[in-house]
Amino acid sequence: MTLKEKIESHQARVGIIGLGYVGLPLACEFVRAGFSVTGVDTDAAKVDGINRGSSHVQDVTDEVLGSRIGPQGLTATTRVEALRNCDAVIICVPTPLRKTRDPDISYIVSAVDGIASALHKDMLVILESTTYPGTTEEVIRPKLESTGLSAGRDFYLAFSPERVDPGNPRFHTRNTPKIVGGITPECTEMAASLYRQAVETVIAVSSTQCAEMIKLLENTFRSVNIGLVNEIALMCARLNLDVWEVIDAAATKPFGFMPFYPGPGLGGHCIPIDPHYLSWKLKTLNYYAKFIELASEINSNMPHYVVSRIVDALNSLQKSVNGSRILILGIAYKKDISDVRESPALDIINLLQDKGAQVIYHDPHAPEVHLDHAVLRSVSLTDDLLIGSDCTVIVTNHSDYDYPRIVAKARIVVDTRNATRGLTAPRGKILKI
Ligand SMILES: NC(=O)c1ccc[n+]([C@@H]2O[C@H](COP(=O)([O-])OP(=O)(O)OC[C@H]3O[C@@H](n4cnc5c(N)ncnc54)[C@H](O)[C@@H]3O)[C@@H](O)[C@H]2O)c1
Repeated sequence: MTLKEKIESHQARVGIIGLGYVGLPLACEFVRAGFSVTGVDTDAAKVDGINRGSSHVQDVTDEVLGSRIGPQGLTATTRVEALRNCDAVIICVPTPLRKTRDPDISYIVSAVDGIASALHKDMLVILESTTYPGTTEEVIRPKLESTGLSAGRDFYLAFSPERVDPGNPRFHTRNTPKIVGGITPECTEMAASLYRQAVETVIAVSSTQCAEMIKLLENTFRSVNIGLVNEIALMCARLNLDVWEVIDAAATKPFGFMPFYPGPGLGGHCIPIDPHYLSWKLKTLNYYAKFIELASEINSNMPHYVVSRIVDALNSLQKSVNGSRILILGIAYKKDISDVRESPALDIINLLQDKGAQVIYHDPHAPEVHLDHAVLRSVSLTDDLLIGSDCTVIVTNHSDYDYPRIVAKARIVVDTRNATRGLTAPRGKILKI
């Protein structure tokens, strides 16, 4: 049976390396479509949890995971050799930045080394991790070809960016269109045919580099537009204008305007990081990516701006940051999720602690957070806590917060998300960014 026939009859065995926010939902989706999936992860605790039906990813409930686990469904392992039995392998490992803000593709390299040891004729290998244009062709291809097998002839190689938006109730793996680009048209078609079994819409593009670039355009687009609107917020503050009113009214224009909203800064594993993969690649070609660097500068300065608003709030109460008790509401990087990676709340907490504040936080989704020098735990959000805090800062606008109660009980509120929109309060009680 050819690989195409195995894919179309759902008899192909799918391997997924990296069972995190991206890999686990994808694995579940392939099982739902009728495939057997081998999930490989270096984290033994995650593997154990998955095999017990206990999910560490918010978008995959224990109920769904429990129904996907089993010999005919998903089996998780730390043993990369298990990929030998797979017909297709998808890489979903992290792509962070180094301290120097250069790409760290070491996780991809180690995953590909593992695949190389399991590579066989007619295997389909797909990279989903976000990375700079050229990675699949320049890094993965030579590593896999060092086995003696040739890409495009003996095995199939493609890139397909992951576009998942954690916590999004409308769009998930199945109904988010999937981009696919292979190193040959046959590779593109093989990868597209695999995704077509599990995802509603698949869009083929001409190359792996094009597919890699599409993801970076999408995330750079967000980073730059958020940077622009954050700067508009700073301008509005100088002009004594309410930036939220300005954006809402501008958004009534039915064409040529798409609203973006200011906030405390960028967070998550994608928007603050991915554009730097692109600017790094361009630096190697003697090109300076101006928009990316400027947006990053403005966005990464937003936690400092939030702290300056907290200083203003405390000042109006004749208090200093030093010695004040500051309550942070929401530390996840966006609403209704638990992910605190790169969250601006962490920068805000560190900055306030450096100034001598006593910082406490509440987050219904993130019970504990590891900071540079300490571990903080979420406190209960009681009336006494709100009354007893010198300043309450809404950093993440989780849906289950009772904002009228927060405004009523808190001494003063700094609202970085316009979560208190429409609420009435005595003049000066709510400071927005
Ligand atoms: N999280 C998102 O919202 C999102 C959205 C789109 C794209 N992406 C991209 O997808 C990729 C994965 O992101 P994520 O959020 O799922 O990361 P994650 O940290 O949640 O998961 C990655 C998993 O890979 C495992 N891992 C690391 N090295 C490994 C190896 N050599 N072999 C096997 N397992 C290994 C880790 O233990 C972890 O469980 C990144 O490139 C990211 O930029 C993420």
